[in-house]
Amino acid sequence: MLPLLRTLIGIAVGGFVALLPHGGRKTGRRSFVRNATLGSVGIVSALTGGGFVALLWPNKTGDFGRDLTVSAAEVPTVGAAPLRWAPGKFYLIRNPDGVLAVYWKCVHLGCTVPFIDADGQFRCPCHGSVYDANGAYVSGPAPRSLDTMPVEVDDEGNVTVATGTIQTRGGYSPEQAVAYNF
Ligand code: FES
Repeated sequence: MLPLLRTLIGIAVGGFVALLPHGGRKTGRRSFVRNATLGSVGIVSALTGGGFVALLWPNKTGDFGRDLTVSAAEVPTVGAAPLRWAPGKFYLIRNPDGVLAVYWKCVHLGCTVPFIDADGQFRCPCHGSVYDANGAYVSGPAPRSLDTMPVEVDDEGNVTVATGTIQTRGGYSPEQAVAYNF
């Protein structure tokens, strides 16, 4: 249906151009057909090119990259397993220093790293890198600790994570956490 529509539009556009006065000369049938054909080809090319560009254009959908808020009710207690927040691709960790958000992407080759409740660590399923409960490097081929995202805590204990800002770090230090007294 769409190709037929494109062709008809091309013929119409080409026909219109062909009917425009050409220095006072009358438009011939040959000229009409040529311009209609060129119009069709032009429109098909433009649509194909536009589709190709759309295909290659970065497809930034979803919430990742925005500031996302975790309500106070969802913030884990100290010592509990981190909260896995899929829309933002982070874990919200609560420890005695406060809260920190850790990007779940392995810093080795980018696999998603799960938190293993049984041993209280993050373990990458791809090549075995291990990170402790704060996402700090323990072992494996990863070159550093899991990256973090900036965190803000409001007056009611809601935590906003800036998932568009990825921060690298060495190990864990207390200042990476934002105080959380709720
Ligand atoms: S991608 Fe995680 S260890 Fe290789």
